[in-house]
Amino acid sequence: MERAAALALCLNLFISVAVCLEIYKDPSQDAEARIQDLLPRMTLAEKIGQMTQAERRVLDYAAMRDYFIGSVLNGGGSVPKGNTIQAWHKMLRTFQSGSLATRLQIPMMYGIDAVHGNNNVLGATIFPHNVGLGVTRDPDLLKRIGAATALEVRATGIQYAFSPCIATCRDPRWGRCYESYSESTDIVRNLTEIIFGLQGEPANKTAGVPFVADSSKVAACAKHYVGDGGTVNGINENNTIIDYEDLVKIHMAPYFDAIAKGVSTVMISYSSWNGIKMHANKFLITEVLKKQLNFQGFVISDWSGIDRITSPSGSNYTFSVLTAVNAGIDMIMVPFDYKSYISELTRLVNEGYISMDRIDDAVTRILRVKFTMGLFESPYPDRAFAKYLGAESHRALAREAVRRSLVLLKNGQEGSEPLLPLSKSTSKIIVAGSHADDIGLQCGGWTISWFGSSGSITKGTSILQAVRNAVSPSTEVIHERFPQPGFAKSQGADYAIVVVGEPPYAETYGDNLNLTLPLEGIPTIQNVCGEVKCLVILISGRPLVIEPYLPLMDAFVAAWLPGSEGAGITDVIFGDYDFEGTLARTWFRRVDQLPMNVGDPNYDPLFPFGFGLKTNTLLSRYCLTFKISR
Ligand code: GLC
Repeated sequence: MERAAALALCLNLFISVAVCLEIYKDPSQDAEARIQDLLPRMTLAEKIGQMTQAERRVLDYAAMRDYFIGSVLNGGGSVPKGNTIQAWHKMLRTFQSGSLATRLQIPMMYGIDAVHGNNNVLGATIFPHNVGLGVTRDPDLLKRIGAATALEVRATGIQYAFSPCIATCRDPRWGRCYESYSESTDIVRNLTEIIFGLQGEPANKTAGVPFVADSSKVAACAKHYVGDGGTVNGINENNTIIDYEDLVKIHMAPYFDAIAKGVSTVMISYSSWNGIKMHANKFLITEVLKKQLNFQGFVISDWSGIDRITSPSGSNYTFSVLTAVNAGIDMIMVPFDYKSYISELTRLVNEGYISMDRIDDAVTRILRVKFTMGLFESPYPDRAFAKYLGAESHRALAREAVRRSLVLLKNGQEGSEPLLPLSKSTSKIIVAGSHADDIGLQCGGWTISWFGSSGSITKGTSILQAVRNAVSPSTEVIHERFPQPGFAKSQGADYAIVVVGEPPYAETYGDNLNLTLPLEGIPTIQNVCGEVKCLVILISGRPLVIEPYLPLMDAFVAAWLPGSEGAGITDVIFGDYDFEGTLARTWFRRVDQLPMNVGDPNYDPLFPFGFGLKTNTLLSRYCLTFKISR
C-alpha cells in the first residue's frame, strides 16, 4: 500500500510541477513536447475553438476570448476600413488580444488569400497570376516570389496565406484555371518551391513536418485537395471523374512535393471525386493524405465547404459537421455562423458521434503549426515589416516575372519582316484596347476585391504608362481605347499596340463554355489591325478563341494576368529583353476540342504546349507559316 501511495504522491508532484512549469510556453521545448503539455490542459470548448476559423466581420475581442476562436480570415475584398497597414495592425491586435485573454493564452492565426502577392491590400505588389508564372517553369523564381509575398503579408501583421493553389487545370473553361500553373503536373510539382519562399526552408528536410522558420515567413496552404482542376467541362466545384491512378498521377502528385517541403496546411476542394464530395472523403483525407502521405500539418475546409456536402447547401448542418470532421478535416472555415458550428460539434462529441481522439488529432495538428511557426512567441504584428509592402525590390521581382511569363505566338506576316522588337524611336504609335490603360484589368481576379475590377484600383504601372516611359521623347503616343473604323489609318502611325482581353473574374463566375474574346476585343483588333501594322497583347486567365483573328495580327503576345508591373511587357516588346516563355497550356483552336492536353490522342492545337517564339529569328517565321497553313 505504501508503494502505491508513494507513486501517487510522485505523480501528483510531477503534475503540479508540470502545471506550474507550463512547458507549452517554453520556446526551448520542441513542438511535440509543448503539444503534449498543452493538450491535456484544454477543455473541450477550448479544443473546438481551435478547430474554428471565422470571418473578421463577425468577430471582436469578446468573441475571440469567449469562444477560444483559433483562426480568423477575411474573404476576398473584406478588409478593415481604409485598408491601410495601420488598419490591419489594429484589427489583428484586437483579435489577438482577445485570444491571449483566454485561460491558456493560445494565439490565433489569421489567414488571407495572398495568391499573387498580398493582393487584398492597397499598395501591395501584385505578381502575375499562376497561369503566367507556370510559363517560366522556374522554381527559384517562385521561391523568390514566395519570400517577397511572405514579407508583404507580414507587413500587414498576417501570419497565414491560403497559397499556393497547386491545381492541375485540365480544362480552360474552368473559372479558376488562371490560379493553376499548368496543365502539366510536372510543372505544378516543380513550382511548389514557392512553399519554401513562403514558409522558409527546413534545416533538416524532414518530410511532412510543417516548417515556418521565422516571423518573416508565413504558414502556407496547398490547395485545393484534390482534383479541383479536373472537373467535368471545367465546371467549378463539380465532379472529377477519373480513376484513382490518374487522380494520383495528374492531381495528387503536387501534394507529394508540397508535403515533402513541409507545407503547414492543406485546403480541401469543393469538388467531388467520382461523385463523392471531397469535404466528405475520409479515404482521401485520412487514409491517403494523413496516413499514407504522412502529412503532419492541419487540414482546413474551404469557405462554407462543409455546408456544400449537402444539397441544397447547409440543408443538414449536423450531417455536414459530423461527416467533415470524421473525414479528417481539422479546422472548419465556417466562416460566419461559428456559434452553430461550435454548438453542433460539441453536441456530436458529447453524444459520442465524433471521438475525442479525432478532436485531439485535429488540435494536435493545429498546435503543431502554431508552435512550429513561432506564433506563441510572436503573436502580434511587427511594425518593422511595414516597409516591405509594395517594396521597390518586390516590384522589380514582379517585373522580371512578367517579362518571363510572356509568350510570343506570332511575329510577322508571311513574306514580311518580323514586327518585334518594336522601335522606341519611331515618330508615331497608337496604343489601343480596353486593357491598355487599366491596372485592374491587367491584375485580374483576387485583386483588392474578390473578383477584381477595372480601373486604377491599386498602385502599379499600366501598359500604356509603360509604353510612354519606354519610347523616345520624340515619339508621339496616341491612346484610343476603342478606335472606330478609319481612325487608325487617319493617324499615319508606324504601328499600333492593341491590348485586349478578359474582364476580371473569380471562381464559378469565371466558368466559360465559349471562351471567345469578350468586350470590344474583336472589333478593336479588326478596326486597328486592318488599317495599320499591329501587335496584339492578350490579357487573359487562359487561352481564348483567337484563330479567326490571327491573320489580321502582325504579332501576337499572350501576357496572361501580369499584375501591377506593366513595364515587364514593354521590357520585352521593345527588345530590352527577348521572349523566353513557352506555353504551359495548350492553345486550342475551338472549344469543341476541349478538354485537350499535351499527350492526348487527336492533339490538334493552334499552338501546342511548349510553343513560344523569340524575336527576329527564322524559326519564328517558319513556325508561324507552318502553324497557320494547316
Ligand atoms: C474561396 C476559395 C479558396 C479561398 C477561400 C477563402 O471560396 O475556394 O481558394 O482560399 O474561399 O477566401
